[in-house]
Amino acid sequence: MKTACAVILAAGEGTRMKSDFPKVLHEVLGKPLITYPVEAARGAGISKVVLVGGSNRAVLQKLFEKKTRVVLQSKRLGTGHAVLAAAAEWKSSRGNLLIMPGDAPLADAETLRALLKQHESSGARATVLSAAIENPRGYGRIIRDASGDVIAIREELDASTEEKAVCEVNSGIYVFDARSLWNALALIRKSAKKKEYYLTDAVEILARQGLKVNAFTARKSEVVLGVNNRLDLSVVTKYLLRRNIEKQLEAGVTVIDPGTVYIEEDVRIGRDTVIYPFTYIEKGVAIGSQCKIGPFCKIRADSTIADGAEIGSFVEIVRSKIGSKTRVKHLSYIGDAILGKDVNVGAGTITANYDGKNKHQTRVGDRAFIGSDTVLIAPVRLGSGVKTGAGSVLTRNSDIPAGKVVVGIPARILKGSVNKK
Ligand code: UD1
Ligand code: CA
Repeated sequence: MKTACAVILAAGEGTRMKSDFPKVLHEVLGKPLITYPVEAARGAGISKVVLVGGSNRAVLQKLFEKKTRVVLQSKRLGTGHAVLAAAAEWKSSRGNLLIMPGDAPLADAETLRALLKQHESSGARATVLSAAIENPRGYGRIIRDASGDVIAIREELDASTEEKAVCEVNSGIYVFDARSLWNALALIRKSAKKKEYYLTDAVEILARQGLKVNAFTARKSEVVLGVNNRLDLSVVTKYLLRRNIEKQLEAGVTVIDPGTVYIEEDVRIGRDTVIYPFTYIEKGVAIGSQCKIGPFCKIRADSTIADGAEIGSFVEIVRSKIGSKTRVKHLSYIGDAILGKDVNVGAGTITANYDGKNKHQTRVGDRAFIGSDTVLIAPVRLGSGVKTGAGSVLTRNSDIPAGKVVVGIPARILKGSVNKK
C-alpha cells in the first residue's frame, strides 16, 4: 500500500530552546528547521503534507502559504494527541501514513524513501526509523524481545535502568497503516509521569495485539538526531554543513579547507571552482565554474557569480550579479550591483547602496576598470570600459558614458578622455 500522506508535528513550545521564537522556525543554514522535514517528505514522493501547529500555527501557515495545510493542536498534550489533531486529514485514508517530528532535519528524502520501501514490502502495521547512537539520552529507546522483535518504545522518563542502557533510539519518524494507527490511538492513555499522550505508545499497543511492528535501522545514524536545545541545534547544523560541502566536492568543486567554510542550503557552484578557507556563502547563491572564491569573503543571498570570476579577501557581495572573469579581489563591499564581464574592481571599492531609506542599484559595463578606493554612491551607472581614478567618488545619479575616464571628488570626466584598455 502506498504512502500518500505525511503528518509533521510542530506544535511543541520548544521550551528547552530558551527562546522567544518558535523552535521550528529557528534557521539552520539559511532555512527554518521545519522546512527540512517538509522538503524531505515531498522529495520522497509524498504529495499531501500536513503540519500540526500550536501557538505558532499562523506563522507556519504564512511560511508555507497555501501549499501545506497547518492544522491546530489547541493544547499541547503530547505527540499522540498531536497526530489525532490532524485525524480529519488522514483517518479515512486506506494507505499508510508517514509521521515526522518537525525538529529532526537530518532525515533526508533518501532515508525516507528507504523507510517507506521497507515498510511497504514487509507488511508491518508500523515501522519506526531507529538508529544506535552513542549518547541516547533524551530519546525514546527501542525495546525488543528475546527474538529481536520490537515490542515497545520507552521514553527516558519512564525507562528502567536496563532500558536506559539501550542505545537504539526512536527517531520520531514512523510509517503506520492508517487504520491500525487510528485504532491504537483510541487506546492510548496519559503517561504516568509527564501526563501526555505518547505516540510511542501506539507501537506497544499494536505489538501487544500481535500485529507486526518493525524498526528500520538508518544507515547513517545521525539522521535520527533531533533538536531540543541550542546544543542540538549546533550539532545538526554541523552535519548539514558537512553534507552541503560534500555535495560540492562530489560536483567537482575544490574546497581547500572544509572545516572553515560555511555554505548554506541550495547553493550551486560550477566545476573547477576553488573555494579558499574562511568563505561564507548564503542560501541560494549561484557561482559559475572556474571561479576563485575567498579566502575570507562573504557572498550573501540573491547573488550570482559568473564563470571565471575571482572574489578575494575581505569582500562582501549581496544581491549582485558579477560577470564572467570579473575580479573583486580585495576589501570591497558590492551591494545591489550588476557588474559586467572582465571588470576589474580595485582594492577598497565600495558601493554606497543605501541612503538611509532605500537601496539603489549600481551598474558597471564590461571591461570597466575601477580604481582603488572608489566610492559609487548609488544609483550609479558606468558604461563599458569606463575607468575611475583611485579615491574617486561617483555621486548619486552619475551616468558615465562608455570609455570615459573619471577622477576626483566628486568624480568628473576628464576632457577628451578615452580609456584605451
Ligand atoms: C520524541 C519521542 C521520542 C523520540 C524523539 C525523537 C514521544 C513521546 N517521544 O521525544 O521517543 O526519541 O521524539 O526526536 O513521541 N509536538 C506536538 N505536540 C505536542 C508535543 C510535541 O506537535 O503536544 C511536536 C513537537 O513540536 C516536536 C515533536 O512533536 O516537533 C516531538 O516532540 P518533542 O517534545 O520534541 O519530543 P521528544 O521529547 O524529542
Ligand atoms: Ca524533539
